[in-house]
Formats: sequence, structure tokens, C-alpha cells
Amino acid sequence: MQPAFKAAVIAAALPMCVLLARAAEVSTAAAGHATPAYTSRGELVMPADYRTWTFITSNINMGYPSEGPRPPDSPTTFGNLFVNPEAYTSFMKTGTWPDRTVLMIEIRESGNTPALNTASRFQTDVRGFEFHVKDAARGGWTFYFIRPGKTSGKAFARTESCYACHEKNAAVDTTFVQYYPPLVGIAKAKGTFKKTAE
Ligand code: HEC
Repeated sequence: MQPAFKAAVIAAALPMCVLLARAAEVSTAAAGHATPAYTSRGELVMPADYRTWTFITSNINMGYPSEGPRPPDSPTTFGNLFVNPEAYTSFMKTGTWPDRTVLMIEIRESGNTPALNTASRFQTDVRGFEFHVKDAARGGWTFYFIRPGKTSGKAFARTESCYACHEKNAAVDTTFVQYYPPLVGIAKAKGTFKKTAE
């Protein structure tokens, strides 16, 4: 099967898989937009409707120091940051995230066509989903990764570098609001923006 076609088949099958997974093993009721939901093994369930969530911003070529310097010929990737709408509405009023906030970066590969300027890039296949979830019932903010086409994904252990970097450098709670243009002004006005992140 051609990779692009295979990805399309997986994408088409995903909503049904999510429904089946929810019926079979979800321990938290996922009514309507209620998030987050977990499997009986404690994995985060892929939110089927995240494309209707609130879009915050995009990044390009995100990488972490532990991965070493980015090779000059590595393909451009995009990251699209979404949040569940209830959390966004609450942030706009308070300048911080309520319990059960789900922030998610959809990581996508990029393409180019000779008909366009060679420097231009558009978004293509999903490479994976990184989550940052605030849930007091599960020890507070937790990171997860879900692979494309999967219905759930595991948490990162608290010893992973994700936690230390976010705790030390992020502007609001453990989230990098300093890089999210629509939210910076709100957090500053509400006094939730950490001075150290200026
Ligand atoms: C060296 C610092 C660093 C490390 C390590 C790190 N991050 Fe981040 N992370 C950032 C920065 C900077 C941003 C904001 C940039 C952006 O989204 O454009 C960010 C944003 C995020 C976001 C968007 C929501 C938020 O909290 O602001 C998620 C989700 C995320 N990272 C997941 C992870 C995961 C999962 C890991 C571990 C595998 C990780 N990060 C490790 C620096 C880091």
C-alpha cells in the first residue's frame, strides 16, 4: 500500500476505532466534550473531536536540546497547538488553566510543490500528538504521546526531561504561554504570568 494511501485509510478508520475503544475500556465517562478520558490501563484516550477545539498557535521545527543540534537537511515539521474549548474560555477569564485542561500539539510533516516558491511549505501527514494534561486526580500536569492512528497513548514518567524544562521555564503554571500570542496579554493582565519568563 502506498504510504499516503495507507495514512488516508488509517485516518478514515480512526473515528470508528476511537468509538470502539471508548465503549470497551474507557474508565472516565467521555460525554460530549468532556476531557480527558483514560483507558483502564491509565493511557490517555485520543480525543476524536480535537479538530473542533480552540486553535492557539503553530510552531515550526520544534526540537529539544536532548536530541542534539538539528541537522541542516532535516525536513521541516509543523506543530499545531489546540486546547479543549472549556479550558480556553476559563483561561480568558482567569489567566490560568482550570483542572482537566488538555493542551495538545499535533505534529505534522511538510511538503512542497515545484509549482510554488521552493521555500514554501504546507502541512502533510501527522507524525504524532504530544499532550500536556492538567488533572488533579492523576497527580497534576502530566505529559502523554499518542502515535498517529492509535486510540490512546502512555504518560511520560515524571523523571523525563519534559517536566523539569516546563517547570523551570514556562510562563503560566507549567505551560509556555510566553510563546502563545493570544494568551500573553491575558496572563499579564490577570497577574498569572511569571516574571522569570519575561
Ligand atoms: C528544553 C525545554 C523543553 C523540554 C525538555 C520539553 N519541552 Fe515541551 N515545550 C517547550 C517549549 C519552549 C514549548 C513552547 C513552544 C511551542 O509550543 O511553540 C513547549 C510546549 C509544549 C507543549 C504545548 C503546551 C504547553 O505546555 O505549553 C506540549 C504539549 C509539550 N511541550 C510537550 C512536551 C513533551 C511531551 C516533552 C517531553 C518528551 C517536552 N515537551 C519537553 C520546551 C520544552
